[in-house]
Amino acid sequence: MELGLSGRGVLVTGASGGIGAAAATALAAEGARVAVHCFSNRARAEELAARIGGHVVQGDLRRPEEAASVMSEAVAALGAVDVCVANSGGWDEEDVPVWEMSLDRFHRVVEDNLLAPFLTCREYLRHVQGTGVGSIVLVSSVSATFGEAGNADYAAAKAGVAYGFARTLKNEIVRIAPEGRVNVVAPGWTLTGGAAPDAAAVERATATRPLKRLATPEDVAAAVVWLASPVASGMCSGEIVHVAGGMEGRLVEGAPGTA
Ligand SMILES: NC(=O)c1ccc[n+]([C@@H]2O[C@H](COP(=O)([O-])OP(=O)(O)OC[C@H]3O[C@@H](n4cnc5c(N)ncnc54)[C@H](OP(=O)(O)O)[C@@H]3O)[C@@H](O)[C@H]2O)c1
Repeated sequence: MELGLSGRGVLVTGASGGIGAAAATALAAEGARVAVHCFSNRARAEELAARIGGHVVQGDLRRPEEAASVMSEAVAALGAVDVCVANSGGWDEEDVPVWEMSLDRFHRVVEDNLLAPFLTCREYLRHVQGTGVGSIVLVSSVSATFGEAGNADYAAAKAGVAYGFARTLKNEIVRIAPEGRVNVVAPGWTLTGGAAPDAAAVERATATRPLKRLATPEDVAAAVVWLASPVASGMCSGEIVHVAGGMEGRLVEGAPGTA
């Protein structure tokens, strides 16, 4: 199936990371011209860009002026950005309940996962205003749907992106791009490299799923490609596609020592 991505300009934020790199690779395989965004890991972005024929753009997307320069460099490299994949973000590995959470950590995680996508999309939609064409794929998380004990900051930011933000943008984008679409990919735990995960943790994470494995970055990238494609998903907007093997919820731990 021809997905209508050949020759299209696509910006992938956080393409120096695991899921972003897989998305950039999969989009390039469909013929898209890709702007490979990185924050600190320029070497990884350059290696990827060389491999897929992309262009590196760099910046801290929590800073308005850097978000603006990332977008203008992507436009300069690609001519037009037909699709923006707002993927950058991440969580804090430390499990901290809300009553112990510092304001610093809350601000940092919310800035990474809500402010950065907001600034990315604000700059992108300013570009779309000029072209009349655009599509956004936001990368959220199953934490938006099911919460995540010990990471309330992350779950709240990802829920903001997947629900209020995306569902508002899908109604705003058509004011400036009549065929404009905004969709969300919500991955579960995805194997992005590093050490093999602890078997007990995997068993817990997959306990409520019919598919008993963790996602690969390529599983998530396939959903990004589908939502980026005006042919495959041209009548889908405001959708949240979970990539989590049919996950229905989480096993909940009570107080230590309780049954
Ligand atoms: N992996 C999972 O299990 C999982 C599950 C659900 C959702 N997600 C979401 O999927 C997305 C990608 O995750 P991943 O696992 O691929 O993470 P990753 O490998 O850590 O990559 C994160 C990417 O975000 C970039 N980034 C971080 N802070 C940034 C900032 N302030 N400004 C601009 N870019 C910034 C990083 O850039 P540099 O490396 O260049 O600094 C990197 O490219 C994230 O939004 C994450 O929350 C991941």
